[in-house]
Amino acid sequence: MKLCCVPLLCLAAAVSSAFVVSTPHMWTKLILTHHWPTTFCGMEHCHVNISYWTLHGLWPDKGIDCNSSWHFNSSLIEDLLPDMEKSWPDLLNPLSTGFWKYEWHKHGTCAAKAPSLNSQHKYFSKALELYHKADLDSILKKFDIIPSEQKYQFRHIEGVIENFYGVKPKIQCVQPSKNADYQILGQIEICFSPDFTPLDCEKQSTPGAFSEDWKFSGRVNRPSGFSVCDHDVPVYYPPLS
Ligand SMILES: *[C@@H]1O[C@H](CO)[C@@H](O)[C@H](O)[C@H]1NC(C)=O
Ligand SMILES: *[C@@H]1O[C@H](CO)[C@@H](O)[C@H](O)[C@H]1NC(C)=O
Ligand SMILES: *[C@@H]1O[C@H](CO)[C@@H](O)[C@H](O)[C@H]1NC(C)=O
Repeated sequence: MKLCCVPLLCLAAAVSSAFVVSTPHMWTKLILTHHWPTTFCGMEHCHVNISYWTLHGLWPDKGIDCNSSWHFNSSLIEDLLPDMEKSWPDLLNPLSTGFWKYEWHKHGTCAAKAPSLNSQHKYFSKALELYHKADLDSILKKFDIIPSEQKYQFRHIEGVIENFYGVKPKIQCVQPSKNADYQILGQIEICFSPDFTPLDCEKQSTPGAFSEDWKFSGRVNRPSGFSVCDHDVPVYYPPLS
């Protein structure tokens, strides 16, 4: 009797100690995702007059929809709304708060497992703070990467971002068609550790579900057009048409 029970006990002990040590439900990285409105609206047929990178979201690398009873309430972030409307607009539906609600439920409630992000105000204000600190638009402009008809080398864009922040970003493109000789710049992710210092995005892989995040409206039912850019294909950074 005893002999057969011992291994089970050992296993139970090993499992419980693993839980204590690594807190498996806690995220270890935050992904600050920017999208380029012209590219997004080229895919979604929306019309915006925005020629700067806008926020898509602040996503922990672990967890989705962590607390369905924690409802989004825009009056809790009233002081942030002017900045939210400018920096984190709903490109499909500019007058709606639906995008923020969606991002809160899907990602914010998971980010909120960290004390530093455990309220709607903390979550949204930290996202805005990181977005303004990253200041992606200025960095790209400063190094002469500007929306235009010319095509850029992928490595040039990646190199500028990597040199400036000191970490590897994740850059996503849209393929205009099967045999196109260029790709369209769509989304740029900068990653952060739980203490908000920049981190290589490639340290851990991101679940694929995140790339389809923009389908929040329910209006879009086809697969996401974003994928990690091909390093050898010229990149189109489209200006406002
Ligand atoms: C787009 O925005 C720019 C700068 O804010 C403005 O000068 C221009 O008139 C706007 N165009 C349209 C079509 O709204
Ligand atoms: C979920 O959110 C509700 C409402 O804010 C809160 O009372 C509850 O403690 C949360 N549950 C967890 C597991 O965080
Ligand atoms: C939203 O938050 C405000 C401020 O705390 C509160 O007065 C209001 O009741 C909340 N609304 C809902 C629907 O929970």
